[in-house]
Parts: sequence; C-alpha cells; structure tokens
Amino acid sequence: MKRSNATTERLFRFAGVSEGMAVLELGSGPGEVSELLSEIVGSAGSVLAIDHSKELIASAQKKLEESGKNNVRFLQADLNDAPTYLKNIDLASFDAVVGRRVLMYLPSPDSVLSSLLPWLRKDGLVVFEEYDSTMCPGVVSAMPAHQRAASLLDKMLAKEGVDQSMGFHLPATYSKAGLKFEAIWAEAVIDGQGDQYSLGELLELVKPRLESSNIAAISEVDELIALIEVEKEPTAVFVSAMRFCAKAINE
Ligand SMILES: C[S@@+](CC[C@H](N)C(=O)[O-])C[C@H]1O[C@@H](n2cnc3c(N)ncnc32)[C@H](O)[C@@H]1O
Repeated sequence: MKRSNATTERLFRFAGVSEGMAVLELGSGPGEVSELLSEIVGSAGSVLAIDHSKELIASAQKKLEESGKNNVRFLQADLNDAPTYLKNIDLASFDAVVGRRVLMYLPSPDSVLSSLLPWLRKDGLVVFEEYDSTMCPGVVSAMPAHQRAASLLDKMLAKEGVDQSMGFHLPATYSKAGLKFEAIWAEAVIDGQGDQYSLGELLELVKPRLESSNIAAISEVDELIALIEVEKEPTAVFVSAMRFCAKAINE
C-alpha cells in the first residue's frame, strides 16, 4: 500500500472510523480512499463515494470492481448540492462523513458540511485529512529541483483558488458548520520516502494543469522531473507538506 494511504488508514481508524459503519465519502477521485474505507467498514458496512468527475468515478468504480469490493457505491455529483444527490437517501443514515484533500477545493466547505448534517446520525463522525503547503518546504541542505517543483505546485494551486492552509482551517470549518470539534493531528509529508509519491510523480500528473495555467511549459516540467530523480538520494529528507486530520461530532 502507498505510504500516503497507509497514513490515511491509520488516521481514519484512530479518529473512530470502524467496521460496520455507513460512510459518506466526499471527493473520492481515483478511489484510493474509497478502497481503504471499503476495507475498514467491511462487509457489514457501506460507503457512498461522491465526486463530480465522470472519468474519475468510472476508473474508481472499475478498480473496486476488479478487486472484488462490493460495499462501495459511487455517485457523480457536485458536493455543493447535497439535497439533490442525497434526496433518495433516508435522513440520519450515515455514521460518518469523511474525505481527503477535498475541502480545500470547495469555496465554502462549512456550508457543504452543514448541508450534509441531516443525513448524518446524532453523534456521527466527521473526519477529514487536509493539507497545508504554506509552511513548507522543509529542508536542511538545499534541494533546488525539489524546491522549484514545490514552488510551481504552490503557484498552480493558488491560481486555481485552492485553500492551501485547509489543514489549519479544519477546526473553524467544523464549528462554523455546526459540528462539535473534537481533535486535530498533524504530521509531515516526507517526499519520496518509502512508496510515498515523489514530487516528480506529482509533477507528471499535473503537467497539463501547469501548462494550461501558464506556470511552466511541458519541456521545463520534464527537465525538472529528471533533475528531481538525480537529487532524490535515499537519505535526503524533503518535507513537502503537512497533513492534518481533524475529527468532529454531530451533536
Ligand atoms: C485532490 S483530489 C482527492 C481525491 C481523493 N480524495 C484522494 O485523496 O485520493 C480532489 C477530488 O475532489 C473532487 N472535487 C472537487 N470539488 C468537487 C465538487 N464541488 N464536487 C464533487 N467533487 C469535487 C475532484 O474531482 C477530485 O477528485
């Protein structure tokens, strides 16, 4: 399992996501978190995973089907419109609402969470893993290619209007949504260690976005990816972000 997913599993379990739960997952993307949740809740539980990308829903669905996991249902919908996409679901039917790296993309994450509360049972859990990239990178010896990559990614997210401090904003977001904030944890994302994504892999994935937002040409990104590989010594430690996980309760 990828190190980032192993961390998410550890954080979600620690926050109380457990076997038998009915879970609503926001922003499921390629389905990595959906797959983890499927394992955590087991055959007695269920997951409803929402994303607005038709392509990502299709590939996540295929992945879960291929791995024989049949307790996850995917739904293509805009998270800003809970009353519509949940209209056929009984109120108070979820034990938990969770997600990873998704609230940062929403213009009003507290309104989205508050709109979901009628479907979360009393004392149900809200658990999100969100990041902060404003206090990073952290390095002790210069790693110029990594630092350049981190700066390009920062610029891209800023242009896209993403909240790059969402991790810090989790407790206030929960409170504004009408939830009881319970606890927050944070740890560093150390780039390229174990099977954590390296910045090079991340750049490869977002290359078209970097070019379309006029931040870097494809050829520059390709050069940078090659330089990152050279710089990526097994003993090098580059902190590319902080990940936060916070828990709240629907009182
Ligand atoms: C950075 S990805 C994270 C994917 C997944 N949670 C993970 O950690 O692997 C953010 C996801 O949120 C989805 N998303 C963003 N805004 C959305 C919205 N308004 N409605 C539905 N999905 C949304 C995107 O399509 C994308 O799949």
